[in-house]
Amino acid sequence: MVAVGIWAKRDDMIVHQAEPYNAEPVRAALAGRMLTPVESFYARNHGPIPLIDPDTWRLRVDGLVERDLDLSLADLRRRFTPRTLTITLQCAGNRRSGLIGVRDIPGEHPWGPGATSTAEWTGVSLAEVLRAAGPRDPAAHVAFAAPDVSALADPPQPYGGSIPLAKALAGEVLLAWAMNGQPLPPAHGAPVRIVVPGYIGARSVKWVQRITVQDVPSGNYFQATAYRLLPAEMDPDAAGPGDGLSLGAVAVNADILRPCEGAIVSAGPVNVCGYAFAGDDRGIARVDVSVDDGRHWRQADLGEDAGPWAWRLWHSVIDVPPGQREIIARAWDTCAAVQPESAVHLWNPKGYVNNSWARLRITAR
Ligand code: MTE
Repeated sequence: MVAVGIWAKRDDMIVHQAEPYNAEPVRAALAGRMLTPVESFYARNHGPIPLIDPDTWRLRVDGLVERDLDLSLADLRRRFTPRTLTITLQCAGNRRSGLIGVRDIPGEHPWGPGATSTAEWTGVSLAEVLRAAGPRDPAAHVAFAAPDVSALADPPQPYGGSIPLAKALAGEVLLAWAMNGQPLPPAHGAPVRIVVPGYIGARSVKWVQRITVQDVPSGNYFQATAYRLLPAEMDPDAAGPGDGLSLGAVAVNADILRPCEGAIVSAGPVNVCGYAFAGDDRGIARVDVSVDDGRHWRQADLGEDAGPWAWRLWHSVIDVPPGQREIIARAWDTCAAVQPESAVHLWNPKGYVNNSWARLRITAR
C-alpha cells in the first residue's frame, strides 16, 4: 500500500516540481489498469492550484454567440445531459526525457512516460452548452479561460487555450465535474474543467471560468506561444506568438510500463506490458515488441477497447536471451501511421511530441 501525500497523490510520484505541482506516476502505477486512480494520475500545472468554492463558481459563455450564458454548477447539471466518457489525457511533453537524452532542453521538466493517464470523466457536452448560446458567424474557435496565473508566461497571465469550433461542436468535448465517479479534486480542475479527448492535455483547461466563441484561436500565451512545435534550430527565447506549429491532435505514441527500467529478470519468457494511444478519433491498430533492435518483432495482444478516446493497453510475453537487453515497442494507428524509430530527428527546442520507439533497458540472467 503506497501512502497518499500532497494533493492526494501517491508518495512515490516522480515530482518534477513541488510548486507549481508537477508530478507523474511511476511506470508500475499505470501498468495493467485501464483507469488511472486519481492518486496516480499525472498532474501538470503552470501556476498555483486554485481552491474554488463550487457553490459560488460561475461559467460565462460569450463572444460570437446569439446569447451570453451565465451558469452555476447546478445549472450545468440541470439544463444539460450528463454523460460519462473514458478519456486519456496526454501532455505534449510526455516522454520529453527521451529528447533531453538527445540534447538538453533547459527549463523544461524531464517528463518520462507517465505524463499520460486515463479516467472516466463525467460532465456535459460542450457542444450542448454552445448550442444553448448559439454560435454565430464568423465563429471558428472556442477559447477557454482559467483563473490560475502563471508566472512562466510572458507576460505573466492566467492559463488559457482554445480548440477549433468544429471540435468543440463534435460532442465528445466535456465540461467535466467528476473523475472516476468522484468530484474533481482541486489539482485536476475542481469544480469544472474542460476535457478535450484526443488533443494534447494543454487544451483541457482546468478550473474553467469563461468560454468565448471567436473567429481566431486564443491569444493566450499557452496557445499562441507555448505548446507549439518549433524548428530544431530556433531559439525558444526568441519565439513569439504564432511561431512553429500549433499542437492539437496527439500523434501515435506508446511506452512500456512493465518491467521497470533497469530491471534484472530471469532469461527466458518475460512479461512486457504498456500503453499505446493515438489522438483524435484514430485508434491503435497494432503494437510490436522487439528485443533485437527491431530486426524481429512480435505482435503484442491488445487489451480492452474502451472507445476512441482511451488508450489501448497491450501485453506480450517475449523470449529474452541472457545479457543486457533493450526492449523496444512501437504502435501503429488506424491510419497506418507508426512511431518513428529515433528521437534524434524529433528533437525540438521545447521538447514536445516525443513519439519515437519506446526503449527500456533490462538485464537478463
Ligand atoms: N489548465 C489550467 N487552468 N492550468 C494549467 O496549468 N495545464 C494543462 C491542462 N490544463 C493546465 C490546465 C496541461 S499542459 C495539461 S497536460 C493538463 O491540464 C494536465 O491535466 P492534469 O493536471 O489534470 O493531469
